[in-house]
Amino acid sequence: MAQIFDTHAHYDDEAFAGDYREVIAAFPQYGIGRCTDVASTMESVDRVLSLAHEFPNVYAALGIHPSECRDLTEAFLEEMEQKARDPKVVAIGEIGLDYHFPEEDPDPALQKKWFVRQLVLAQKTGFPVIIHSRDAAKDTFDILQEYHSGLAGGVIHCYSYSTELAREFVKLGFYLGIGGVLTFKNARKIREVVRVIPLTSLVLETDCPYMAPVPHRGERNSSLFLPLVAQAVADCKGIDPEEVIAVTEQNAERLYHV
Ligand code: NI
Repeated sequence: MAQIFDTHAHYDDEAFAGDYREVIAAFPQYGIGRCTDVASTMESVDRVLSLAHEFPNVYAALGIHPSECRDLTEAFLEEMEQKARDPKVVAIGEIGLDYHFPEEDPDPALQKKWFVRQLVLAQKTGFPVIIHSRDAAKDTFDILQEYHSGLAGGVIHCYSYSTELAREFVKLGFYLGIGGVLTFKNARKIREVVRVIPLTSLVLETDCPYMAPVPHRGERNSSLFLPLVAQAVADCKGIDPEEVIAVTEQNAERLYHV
């Protein structure tokens, strides 16, 4: 039977320090099968790997988030490349661009440099990519248009841009990650994206501990809330949630080659 595949979780986050074992052990009760735990900081890389080793149904993605790239070095990327040989690693991510807090985040030029370097690493190692892109639509698209051909695919995680751009990313071979935001009252734009983009190009994700769906908005998110997102996708498309769960699970398997 099909089970929900959470394509983007952060169980390595301190928000789960006290009970990640209990949350992951509860997956089957809620219809959740597998998840990919995604690194974001330099410190998180080893935590994500050890988590993936602890649970057969947890995969690992290694990468440095654009807001965390200030201290990144070539030496660290080489180390990460070695660690990516681990059989539980399925992707490079999360990587990308985030221009939402220009005062706090690294300079766009520095973000672009490390985004491109990690795309090249993904090309070299043959892994798909997990893209984080916030308020940086044009630069993200331009860079991915340039580099997508050598990539083993990828996902635009927490997709937040227009329907037109969604179509363009899908043309480049990317999946769109759909999470709790879809259930927010003001998410008209994303509901439209989910309506028009074929289900075969969508994957489910939490980005937990962030982005809990309604009626849990503001609480700590976890994969256990994903049935609410599957239902919201089903409502947008006028189909059965079982179909959403089955097709997005197959999509996640294709995305991560598992
Ligand atoms: Ni994330």
